[in-house]
Amino acid sequence: MTLTSQSIFEAGSPQAEHIRSLTYGFILAALAILFLVVGLTIYIVIKFRAKDDTKEPRQTTGNRTLEIGMVGVPLLLVVGFFFWSLNTMSSGMPDHEHQKPDIIITGHQWWWQAVYPGTNATAANEIHLPVGRKILMQLNSADVIHDWWVPALGGKMDMIPGVENYLWVTINKTGIYEGSCSEFCGQQHAWMRIKVVAQAEKDYNKWLIEHTRAANLPTDPLARTGQALFAKASCSNCHRISGTDAMGTEGPDLTHFGSRQTMLTGLMDNTPENINRWLTDPQKVKPGAHMPRFIFGPDSVRALTAYLKQLK
Ligand code: CUA
Repeated sequence: MTLTSQSIFEAGSPQAEHIRSLTYGFILAALAILFLVVGLTIYIVIKFRAKDDTKEPRQTTGNRTLEIGMVGVPLLLVVGFFFWSLNTMSSGMPDHEHQKPDIIITGHQWWWQAVYPGTNATAANEIHLPVGRKILMQLNSADVIHDWWVPALGGKMDMIPGVENYLWVTINKTGIYEGSCSEFCGQQHAWMRIKVVAQAEKDYNKWLIEHTRAANLPTDPLARTGQALFAKASCSNCHRISGTDAMGTEGPDLTHFGSRQTMLTGLMDNTPENINRWLTDPQKVKPGAHMPRFIFGPDSVRALTAYLKQLK
């Protein structure tokens, strides 16, 4: 899958294309003004430099046309850009009343939760969306102010506790789109990365169905030990694993954890070695994270890793 970096110039949706055009408009207008002002300054300095210090230069006062131009042109530019900006904003934030969101994304310190209304699919950090369809995203926060921003897909939107904000997005083509939290939200703000996985409708529906099912029951003995440990060590107080007693909502849903490419909101690849490091000492891997240190022995860590890895 193609990876689109965090650039507004690689627009991957009509909403982002609007923003890109507006940005080009601003840059061109700013360059035109810069060259005009610098050009005129150089011209005036050369043309009207003192050739003879004894004589006072010719004095002129008042020039109606020039004055109207000096006020009128900047005014027209400001008014023009004002309406252009309003138009751009309304492309990503049109009326959404009477419409149910297609996805509800909640910012947490420091991870993303996505639920898909009408299904019991839940995703954490890797957010799957279909291409070619206008999607209404509802954006909330569970704790402090976060900000959703995937530059290639459109504008930013604050996620404010107690407030529901909305954004529309129509993704042009499949691929992975990167973004990040864009409002300082604490120690791990920089590691609150977004990964949007845009899929063709067919693949998306398949993913959705797969993710509504309960978690795999572990078959090998090591993973089974891990499952027992998971329950005993009170991991289930904070994490949910559908189909088991784990119903916590404080931390990411782990039902299909093994199918994710990255872990810890994009901090590292989802490999057994990394899960091992994380479980051994969470605060060393991601300081400030709300995951406490449980002081698991190496055997326990190995069992938990085996259990988590097979949750697909
Ligand atoms: Cu969440 Cu910054």
